[in-house]
Formats: sequence, C-alpha cells, structure tokens
Amino acid sequence: MKRIITICLLFAGVYACNNGTPETKTATPDAKVEAKEPATTAKADPTDSPEFQKGLELMNNSDCKTCHKIDEKLIGPAFRDVANKYPNNPATLDTLAHKIIKGGQGNWGSIPMAAHDKLSVEDATAMAKYVLLLKNN
Ligand code: HEC
Repeated sequence: MKRIITICLLFAGVYACNNGTPETKTATPDAKVEAKEPATTAKADPTDSPEFQKGLELMNNSDCKTCHKIDEKLIGPAFRDVANKYPNNPATLDTLAHKIIKGGQGNWGSIPMAAHDKLSVEDATAMAKYVLLLKNN
C-alpha cells in the first residue's frame, strides 16, 4: 500500500513538474478550462440556484424552521420528504404555495400546518420552489 502511495506521489510530482516547466502560455488556457468546470457543476446542483437561495432566505425570515427541517421530521414533515412525494411541476407549486399560505392538515397526518396569511403568493411560491428543489428521487 505504502509503495502505491509513493508511486502515486512520485507520479503527481512528475506531472506537476511537467506542467510547470513549459511556457506559461499553455498554462493560461488550462486554468480557464478549470475555472469553467465548477460553474457547470454548480448548474447541476440545484442548491446553488438563485431560486433555491431565494426560497431559503424567505424561509429563514419566517417561522418554518420551528416545524420543519430538511431531512428530519419535526412537527411538520421533512422538506426532502415533501419534495419526494410530489412531482415538481406548476400544479404542485401552486398547491404547496397555497398550503403554505392557508395551512391545513391531512397530507402528512393530523397535525395541522399553521397558516401564513401575510405571505404573498409570490413568496409562498418561491418557498415551494425551494422545497421541490430538494427532491432526490
Ligand atoms: C406550527 C408548525 C409549522 C410551521 C410554523 C410551518 N409548518 Fe409546514 N407543515 C406543518 C405540518 C404539521 C405539515 C403537515 C400538514 C399535513 O399533514 O397536510 C406541514 C406541511 C408543509 C408542507 C407540505 C404540504 C403538503 O400538503 O404536502 C410544506 C411545503 C410546508 N409545510 C412548508 C412550510 C413553510 C414554507 C413554512 C414557513 C412559511 C412552514 N411550512 C411552517 C407544520 C408547520
């Protein structure tokens, strides 16, 4: 095992040296490509999207955290479970947004969700979008 690690280290060293010796001209385009990569992966990760961030911020300013966690059931269902229960489409968004505003019970048990009638439909929809982005099935 140790030998393999040493070989790997040697290889990495040689690679690094090879990379460093040629003129810096080749190094610049390489760096650009590397810088682009995280942006692409960020796109694939919905938690980095502005929609996710907006919903998260709105929820942090509300009382949602008292009853909900992402991966754990508190008084209300885990948001990830909510996301996995429904298809991510405009109809679900609408239903969830109205449920957030009006509250209600019955989809997850007999404990009612508190109403949030001061929330705008726009904000409630942004929160529902955030919840649905947690979907992982
Ligand atoms: C007092 C506790 C409480 C608070 C505060 C609360 N919830 Fe809930 N929430 C619940 C309960 C309980 C349910 C399950 C309702 C049911 O069984 O239909 C629920 C369900 C949900 C659902 C799934 C609805 C469905 O029909 O499947 C969403 C989405 C949701 N809550 C979002 C939010 C958001 C966003 C906030 C903050 C604005 C929030 N909740 C604040 C208790 C709460």
